[in-house]
This record gives sequence, C-alpha cells and structure tokens, in this order.
Amino acid sequence: MASKILLVEGESDLIAGAEQALVNEGYEPALAHRGDDGLAYARDEVFAVVLTGLRVRGVSGLDLVTQLHLEKPRLPIIVVTAVWDSEQAIEATRRGAFDYLPAPFDTRELLQIVRKAVACELSCRLPLLTAASGPSHFGLVGRSRAMNELFREIGKAGGNSIPVLIRGETGTGKELVAWAIHSHSARADHLFVPVNSAALPESLLESELFGYERGAFTGAQARRLGHFESAGKGTIFLDEIGDLSLSAQAKLLRVLQEEQIQRLGSSKIIPIEARVLSATHRDLETAVAEKRFRDDLFFRLNGMEIILLPLRERMEELHDLVTHFLRRSGLELNLAEPSIQSDAFDFLREQTWPGNIRQLKHVIHRALLEARNHPITLAHAEAAYNHPHNPHNPKPAGLKAMTIGSYMRGLVAGAQTGQIPHAHAQMIHDMDWELVTCALEATHGNKARAAHLLDITRNTIRAKLQAQG
Ligand SMILES: Nc1ncnc2c1ncn2[C@@H]1O[C@H](COP(=O)(O)OP(=O)(O)OP(=O)(O)O)[C@@H](O)[C@H]1O
Ligand SMILES: [Mg+2]
Repeated sequence: MASKILLVEGESDLIAGAEQALVNEGYEPALAHRGDDGLAYARDEVFAVVLTGLRVRGVSGLDLVTQLHLEKPRLPIIVVTAVWDSEQAIEATRRGAFDYLPAPFDTRELLQIVRKAVACELSCRLPLLTAASGPSHFGLVGRSRAMNELFREIGKAGGNSIPVLIRGETGTGKELVAWAIHSHSARADHLFVPVNSAALPESLLESELFGYERGAFTGAQARRLGHFESAGKGTIFLDEIGDLSLSAQAKLLRVLQEEQIQRLGSSKIIPIEARVLSATHRDLETAVAEKRFRDDLFFRLNGMEIILLPLRERMEELHDLVTHFLRRSGLELNLAEPSIQSDAFDFLREQTWPGNIRQLKHVIHRALLEARNHPITLAHAEAAYNHPHNPHNPKPAGLKAMTIGSYMRGLVAGAQTGQIPHAHAQMIHDMDWELVTCALEATHGNKARAAHLLDITRNTIRAKLQAQG
C-alpha cells in the first residue's frame, strides 16, 4: 500500500511543487491549504510523514509542529522553508520536527529525506521494546536469581555494621550497591561519603581522610574535617581501594585497627563512628600474593564480601536494564515513548560489554539522542556501541607511539629488573592485541569484519576483548 504523505502548504508554495515528485515515487500525497486543515486531516487519517512550510495559514508552522508532535509523537514532520534560518531550524527540531529542509533544494534531496522518514515511521510498527513503566528510580534493577541473592546480601549487610568489600569489574554497580547498603541500614539518616582512593595523591591522603588543624602545614589556613570525621555516624565508602600505595595502606590500616583518628597538627583523639565500605575492581588475592596489597588490610576490610558479576554473565538482566535506561534517558531527553527495535536489542545482547552496566546506560542514552521520538534501530545501536568516545572501546595502545626497538629494549630492561617476568610471552600478547586493535579501528569496531581481515574467528576476537577487559 502506498504511504500517504500530508503536505501542508505554506505561503511560498514550496510544497505544492513537491506533490508531483511524490506521486512519481509512488507515494500518495494529500494537500492541506491551511495549518488547521492539516491538523484535522492528520487526526482523521494515518499518514506516514508530514511535510509543512513554516508560514502556513491558520496556525504558525512552528505551532503546527508542536501540536502535531504532541498528538502523534511518532509521526515524522519535515519542515520546508524558503530561507535558511538557524534559529528556526533549532526551534523546529526542539519542538519535535524530524528534519528541516531549507530552499533551495532539489527534488532528489527532498525525496531522500521523505524516504528516510517513511522508513522510520514504518520501523515504529516492528516489534519494539518500550521503556519500563512506573516512576523513574535510581535503584538497582534486576530480577534474576543472582540479583535476588544480591538483594539478600545487601539486606544482611544493612542489618549490621561490619566492613563490606564490594568487588566486580568496572561499571557493575559497586557504588550503587554501597549506597543501597547505607540506605538500608540504621545509618540511612546520616551521611554517605564516597572517597575515590585512586584519585587521592599520596601527599593528600592523610589530610583528606583525617583532616587537619589550622597551621598544620603551609597553606592550612583553617581547620578542615577529613572524610572519616565528616561521615560521622554515617558510612564512608572507600572506592578503588586496590589502587592505594603500600604506605597509604599502612596508614589506613592503623586507623581502622585503632578505630580512631587524629587530625594533622592535633593530638586530640577522635573515635571513628562511621561504617566502612570499600570497593575494588582489582584482583586483590593476586595483589596480596605479590605483596602489593597488605593481607592484614584485606582481612580488615573484608568482614563480608559482595561480588558483582559482569553484565555478560547476567544477560538475563539485559531486558529489564534496557527498559529502565530507556525510561530514565527518555525522561532526561524529554521523549514521549522511548523504545528500541528487537534486532537492535539482539545486537546489544551479542556484545561483550567490557564497561558493563555503565556502558549500557551510555549506549542507550547516545542511541536515544539519535533516534529521539523514533525507536532505536540496529544502526543507532551499532553506532552508539562503537562510538569513538565510548571509553570502553579498545583504545589505541601506547605501543603505537613507540618504535619496535624501544619497545623491545623496554621489555628486556623490565626482565633484567624482574618487573617483567615473562618477557617473551608479554611481547606475543602485546603484539597480538595491537594487531586486533588496529583491525578493529580499521573496521570501526565491527568484530566480524575485523575477524575476517585477520583471518581469525569472531569468537577469538571476542575472547581477546574479554580477556583485555
Ligand atoms: N543493577 C543496576 N540497576 C540499575 N542501574 C545500575 C545497576 N548497576 C549499575 N547501575 C548503574 O550503572 C552505572 C555504574 O554503576 P557504579 O558507578 O555503581 O559502578 P562501579 O562498579 O562503581 O564502577 P567503577 O568500578 O567504574 O567505579 C551507574 O550509573 C549505576 O547507577
Ligand atoms: Mg565506582
């Protein structure tokens, strides 16, 4: 059946000229001479696309866009104008126009945009996954057995004050879990103070964590409370704990053992009342075995352990997470009915998600920014996942900037000092990874094409990406 296209004629008659071209292309155009007629037609009949001028009779073209978009958020509206005006282009888009086409344009250009809009409208009729209903929240999503287990663990942790070590890859929700423990504990009315240990330079560690008195060091112009003290009877969350240097670990261990702190420049003893939660994405057991992390601190922090699985190991959660993020981003972007096509969803399910749930959240957001009032298509999803600003896409390794000679000399020097115990294996690994990254860059992140280029299987590429984390 031919797609019907509503043409709302403006004063400059740009649109009427398009009528014949649309008929030639097999569309079925209907012409409205006034804006209010156009609205009435659109209410009565199903159109695939609306083309309107801005200076239409009856209502203003921009008001027509607003009204039509309000009543039919999925109906693509193309605004055609006699002059290019950036303000109007922005305003029309803000009000929900699908595209903005200033004159002079040729018929080919117009038809191209119409074709795109028709395809978009048709795609809305394919199977969709729509945003979750109910109020938007910032809590933990998930209904799998693993998540149920996690909710129980959080409940258990909320019922006491022992230190909890939360572990999992980046973006798996460690901070969210820490927050959930705090808000389900008797301390919920007190502060939750997150501290990023990795971002704390050694020189600032003590003053940040324990505070200082005026004059304790040059530049200490006033007393400042440290994080332990300002958390009061609340919760202090020591994030990225695996990144602390050994001397910082020693200082932290001491205060945790003694359960008290002293501000720099003061002899007053202040008892620690805050509960300590900590998190890391690092393999602490190996760090302990290699003497990079103190075992006594590890045991002190690890009164109870919560482990979060990477997203690729809990794909049964994907559906709920996607609908959750569709809803949250949809609200942020002010979209009427955010949704995703089923083939785009299938694509998301096939990915390895090295950045886990944070990455998923960003991908949905970016794809929605493109799709706006239309469903996220496979192309949107692929582009968002492979976006160069995606911090989880394989980065060009530092290797590229080096010559092979300097790289090899570095390896040998590392082997001599004992820092690189398996130099040959390390070299094979680095080169292999470098080749894979180059192929992925050359194919814009397309794993199948990269695999084909290198004559290896797609699974091999996946496994390498996974191993690289
Ligand atoms: N189960 C979940 N339901 C809903 N949102 C989640 C869930 N898990 C994580 N998120 C969201 O994913 C993002 C990343 O979570 P969070 O910051 O807690 O991860 P993390 O493990 O602390 O990561 P990193 O190690 O990089 O600091 C946040 O926006 C968080 O709200
Ligand atoms: Mg975190």
